[in-house]
Amino acid sequence: MENYRKFLLLLALSVLIGFVSVLFVLVWVFKWREGLGWDGGAAEFNWHPVLAVTGFIFIQGIAIVVYRLPWTWRCSKPMMKSIHAGLNALAFTLMVISAVAVFDFHNAKNIPDMYSLHSWIGLLVVILHSIQLLLGVCIYLLPSAPAFIRTAAMPLHVYSGIFIFGAAVATALMGITEKLIFSLKDPPYKNSPPEAVFVNMLGLFIVVYGALILWMVTRPQWKRPGEQTSATRESAANEEDSTMAENGAFGNANVEHGGDTRKRNLKVDEMGQRSTM
Ligand code: HEM
Ligand code: HEM
Repeated sequence: MENYRKFLLLLALSVLIGFVSVLFVLVWVFKWREGLGWDGGAAEFNWHPVLAVTGFIFIQGIAIVVYRLPWTWRCSKPMMKSIHAGLNALAFTLMVISAVAVFDFHNAKNIPDMYSLHSWIGLLVVILHSIQLLLGVCIYLLPSAPAFIRTAAMPLHVYSGIFIFGAAVATALMGITEKLIFSLKDPPYKNSPPEAVFVNMLGLFIVVYGALILWMVTRPQWKRPGEQTSATRESAANEEDSTMAENGAFGNANVEHGGDTRKRNLKVDEMGQRSTM
């Protein structure tokens, strides 16, 4: 029970901080910048931070912890896979629109593209996310992938998912710093005007949100239990192979959930899978 409460507390805190981050970026663009618009000007650029923080930070963070929400353990694995993939696809779509906004703004103002470290890492992260999405769908969503491929790919899928999310947080921080240095002239950034302090706080919230999500997604005791122990066993026979394969990345230790020790799928050990945690 203790463990379960801790998870819920961290989840509530991260959702709250995620919301506050989205709110802060909106207040920033409406109070200190030119609001939102699609006219090739500053208002069009502003879609970039708004959609990047909403999609690539907030929604992507929720997408990667969604399997761990205890009340979803009764839902079937295929349904949870669709939710995980759908939220990641939404995060990706918002990020693509966000990137289109900044490229379009640069074109309209004759500003060169892709000169900064922020833009290099940013583009890399977007490309990695698209590959992760494509491979995730092909390997885990479509029923055709053999179990051994699912097993072999899972540690890499989890590692790259965590890496992409962490890199997105770092990219957002670089972008925020860059934008403040570019746009605060009188008084300059170094004089800490109210906008600078407010947006520094936005950066701080993004870091705390990222830290909470990464903590939750890397605790083995909060991982979704194997399909055989979840309440819904429908289609267990068909799912058995793929579920074993997908759980393989984490091994099969007995995991505490709300004081209730659940036995994980022993067959995974027989396949020689070890925990990545
Ligand atoms: C530009 C990606 C978040 C500020 C860019 C560019 C990319 C990119 C690819 C290059 C556009 C071009 O060259 O025409 C990302 C990604 C983010 C993100 C993946 C997700 C976290 C942010 C945030 C801000 C920001 C939160 C804060 C305002 C900027 C600025 C530019 C820019 C000022 C123009 C200058 C430059 O090219 O570095 N971003 N960005 N970005 N971004 Fe971001
Ligand atoms: C697990 C990231 C796309 C299927 C995970 C985990 C992360 C992650 C971090 C570990 C979750 C945990 O330990 O609780 C991502 C990212 C994606 C993405 C960033 C998008 C770019 C997909 C897609 C699918 C998929 C499209 C297709 C269904 C899975 C499965 C698991 C998983 C089956 C194992 C869940 C479990 O442990 O029970 N993903 N993923 N992922 N992901 Fe993804």
